[in-house]
Amino acid sequence: MIAVISPSSNAIGLLYLVTIVCFILALRFLSSPKLARRGNWVGGVGMIIAIVSTLLLDGIGNWVLIVVAAAIGSVVGVVGARRVKMTAMPQMVALFNGVGGGAAALVAIAEFHVANGNLDTTPVVSTVLSALIGSISFAGSLIAFAKLQELIGGRPITFPGQNIFNAAVFFGAVGLGIALIAGVEDQWVLWLLVALAVLFGVLFVLPIGGADMPVVISLLNAFTGLAASATGFVLSNTVLIVAGMLVGASGTLLTLLMAKAMNRSVSNVLFGAFGKVQAGAGAGMRTDDGRTVRATTPEDVAVQLSFANKVVVVPGYGMAVAQAQHDVRALAELLEERGVDVLYAIHPVAGRMPGHMNVLLAEANVPYDALKEMDEINPEFPQTDVALVIGANDVTNPAARHDTSSPIYGMPILDVDKAHSVIVMKRSMNPGFAGIDNELYLEPQTTMLFGDAKDSVVKLIAAVKQT
Ligand code: TAP
Repeated sequence: MIAVISPSSNAIGLLYLVTIVCFILALRFLSSPKLARRGNWVGGVGMIIAIVSTLLLDGIGNWVLIVVAAAIGSVVGVVGARRVKMTAMPQMVALFNGVGGGAAALVAIAEFHVANGNLDTTPVVSTVLSALIGSISFAGSLIAFAKLQELIGGRPITFPGQNIFNAAVFFGAVGLGIALIAGVEDQWVLWLLVALAVLFGVLFVLPIGGADMPVVISLLNAFTGLAASATGFVLSNTVLIVAGMLVGASGTLLTLLMAKAMNRSVSNVLFGAFGKVQAGAGAGMRTDDGRTVRATTPEDVAVQLSFANKVVVVPGYGMAVAQAQHDVRALAELLEERGVDVLYAIHPVAGRMPGHMNVLLAEANVPYDALKEMDEINPEFPQTDVALVIGANDVTNPAARHDTSSPIYGMPILDVDKAHSVIVMKRSMNPGFAGIDNELYLEPQTTMLFGDAKDSVVKLIAAVKQT
């Protein structure tokens, strides 16, 4: 049986306050790459205090079940987090997020069952919200996980009348919730609500392209926060209410920031079925005025790098795929030993998850002060001898500045085309996430070093040593 939790003593109330302060500090620290590790620790300590103080409450329930469940959860969490590759982090977050939403829905169902449907108004509103939002988040997160893990196709799955059908399912679930709040006490109504909410969670994420998943996961994360907060009201647990609100608010802000950095509205991400590759993109670029892309060799690039004063590394998704970050740092150190000034240009949505490039470069021990945000680095490009674009594509496409018909028009980009020389390292002429050609590749100052980013950087290191 679920215990009705109400902090009975001042001591527990005080511990909850400490927890809340820890969570707020953790969020503050997590917003800076330098302090992010500390943020993780502070958040973890806050969570331990929250769990221990909750277990000290009267009538907490069956200790054996709690210990067994906590042990299973801890083993799965620790093993999963230690084994996951950095490129698989978004699906890991999706899975953990889904479990949170599912837990909120299960608590709501259990509470309704214990009360035999006979809840007071406030708990019944919270129970309905917890079941509805938690179930949507659970199912949606599992579909997001399946798309990112390539268990199902990552491309948008669409069918005629989809938005109307989805709306009917959603409002069906909301209608059942209103019936419960109005006093219907049958448990099957809540079960049907959960079933419709799960169906909606699946239908809502299916039409969204796999590469838009980080935005969707962030939104689902906000949903889980709200569901957890509603569960906090069901259980009269202040720390759950506040922690859920913090997750809800930060998830919402992150969703809006990501959409803004991609120059898309949240509704375009959710309902735009983005991610269908533009016909003809990547077919090898050639223009009417005879301009074509020019390939180069590691030896030529090594000469340019060795004699440069300033080199700006522009990492993107391809660097993450190739796991080239350690070799990139080694190349930068080699150049620095020769007196070259090396900086890194970080675009807010380079890669596939927030802070993707920061995390990879931090893992490779690149000094934080060499990482420059877009606004800081853009004025530097006209004085840059070589911009070394490593697996980045969309975030360097000048079409975003002037081509009103481009899907990325208006997205702030890194002005690499203003550098004296641009070297682009990628495997082919294939487009990036937005599915469009990059006119940077036709610019006279641009040359392409084709190949896997890690292989190319290793060859560059060898060639620079020979220069
Ligand atoms: P993209 O535009 O996606 O381009 C990545 C490029 O990397 C591809 O063109 C690919 O070309 C190349 N590549 C892949 N594997 C490689 C490998 N092993 N070695 C070398 N190159 C490789 O990446 P970006 O410039 O980082 O831009 C990110 C895009 O994702 C933006 O459009 C952004 O809006 C979107 N997005 C970002 C986020 C977040 S939060 N970061 C979330 C959702 C969507 P080849 O196949 O020819 O090698």
